[in-house]
Amino acid sequence: MAQIEIENLHFTYAGTQSPSLQEINLTIEKGDFIILTGPSGCGKTTLCRCLNGLIPNFYNGDFEGTIEILGMDTSNRPISELARRVGFVFQNPENQLFSLSVERDIAFGPENLGLQREEIKKRVEWALRVTGTEHLRDYAPYELSGGQQQRVAIASVLAMRPEIIVLDEPTSFLDPKASNDLLMTISKLNDKLGITIILVEHRLDLASKYAKRVLIMNEGRILLDGPPTKVYNEDVYLIGVGIPKVSLLFHLLRKDGIEIKKIPVDTSEAVQFLERRMK
Ligand SMILES: Nc1ncnc2c1ncn2[C@@H]1O[C@H](COP(=O)(O)OP(=O)(O)O)[C@@H](O)[C@H]1O
Ligand SMILES: [Mg+2]
Repeated sequence: MAQIEIENLHFTYAGTQSPSLQEINLTIEKGDFIILTGPSGCGKTTLCRCLNGLIPNFYNGDFEGTIEILGMDTSNRPISELARRVGFVFQNPENQLFSLSVERDIAFGPENLGLQREEIKKRVEWALRVTGTEHLRDYAPYELSGGQQQRVAIASVLAMRPEIIVLDEPTSFLDPKASNDLLMTISKLNDKLGITIILVEHRLDLASKYAKRVLIMNEGRILLDGPPTKVYNEDVYLIGVGIPKVSLLFHLLRKDGIEIKKIPVDTSEAVQFLERRMK
């Protein structure tokens, strides 16, 4: 059964003229790992707000269509009910962490669910372990590096045992090494725990190898939707989508007249292409 079912969604923020989302039709199955990308201002964050019920329950505007998440119609459910089942991680972890220790931050969600002490403790230990942050438990979040903070932000969401996790540009403030470590942690949640992942990301070089599906948005619409191989074969770099550099190189070679049927999405595919050509 689909976990997320969006039909004919249109949304225009109150006080603005043009719609931020148009004709969105989207089905997401359990265990999917989706990269949502597209030029700045194309509506990625707005679509994320639809997944946690902030639209239409918190942001005013003109809303049309239906959004069903885990069988719930988001327009008539309290945000708190969705929040325990759909976890959110934002660009800036400082907005998400507020306690004086990592452990307290992770316990905050389960405490609010009114769980027993033993269960809370169990969940905190589990979330620390899965995200590789056990050694950080007694630190204050502000003492940590950006990459460590993001891992703790994921742990605090994980402790609610969500079925879906949405991450809105979680690597923007991280260097490539910390970004890659974070993406590996996210991939583990998908692989080992079957959590559905929706990752808004510009760094397609790093993230693509983990994704099962890439959605490209432009001007409030979903322009392309498919496996990375299919999506990166299209000319999306022209609208400012930062496809992997190796794919971009092959697009430019194709434009210069070299026959390339299928654009490689990573270096191993590029090597295969070159080996075939050199035979
Ligand atoms: N709270 C808001 N009120 C009015 N307009 C908004 C608001 N948030 C975003 N927008 C507008 O909606 C469009 C999509 O923005 P956003 O979803 O933030 O894009 P992205 O995350 O892809 O950069 C932009 O034109 C932006 O100005
Ligand atoms: Mg955004």
